[in-house]
Amino acid sequence: MNGMMQAKMTPQRLYINIDHVATLRQARRASYPDPIAAARICEAAGADGITVHLREDRRHIQDADVEGLVPVVRTPLNLEMAPTAEMTGIARRLQPHQVTLVPERREEVTTEGGLDLSVEPKRLAVCVTALREAGIRVSLFIDPDPVQIARAVALGVPAIELHTGRYCHNPDQPEHLEALRRASAEAASQGLAVHAGHGLTLENVGPVAAIPECEELNIGHAIVSHAVFVGLDAAVRAMRAAMDRARPR
Ligand code: PXP
Repeated sequence: MNGMMQAKMTPQRLYINIDHVATLRQARRASYPDPIAAARICEAAGADGITVHLREDRRHIQDADVEGLVPVVRTPLNLEMAPTAEMTGIARRLQPHQVTLVPERREEVTTEGGLDLSVEPKRLAVCVTALREAGIRVSLFIDPDPVQIARAVALGVPAIELHTGRYCHNPDQPEHLEALRRASAEAASQGLAVHAGHGLTLENVGPVAAIPECEELNIGHAIVSHAVFVGLDAAVRAMRAAMDRARPR
């Protein structure tokens, strides 16, 4: 092999989480801004996928939003949801391309940690099986922890999403980025597709975008917030450019 040859980097997808477009709408219980219109702008600006989290308390995205998005999005739709019977039924009916299972606590402001795959493993396995039987790709949102990765492998899912929150909230502690790097390598070596997200911004996305095994980023709050000032199209393009600077395509 030519020593000059570079190891081939997997292309990295940018999935835009549009929950907070719905947050703005729900603040007034109005009909706007419309998440479907937002999804169209994200796709035109280069998003590789659209993500929405249908929370049990329906604080932002509503069932009708997911119903409206499924036939309209041209990129894959990633539905984040808790591993409950209600949500599993909704996903099986609406058939998004991918479901990412996340933990949910009603009082939390946002998803606070990864799923603990050792809690109620049978309930999780039932949910994963029901989704996979419906032809839906399943990803598990977990902390960058080798024990959780081993459990994800045992559950037979094709993908995991690593929780980047600790890295994002503690920029002075390099061990959190190191944990993401190590977990990505470990998961990929076990045959899992590696996604990552939570708390990523224009300022902190670079080192995560540069993790070779990481093939998908899910980013929402920072992009929708930036969009308030520059518009959604420009905000999506700015995030894509920040990823590309760290990981040239
Ligand atoms: N990934 C998962 C599993 C999430 O729950 C969230 C938040 O809904 C995100 C990514 C996006 O996080 P942020 O809005 O902080 O970019």
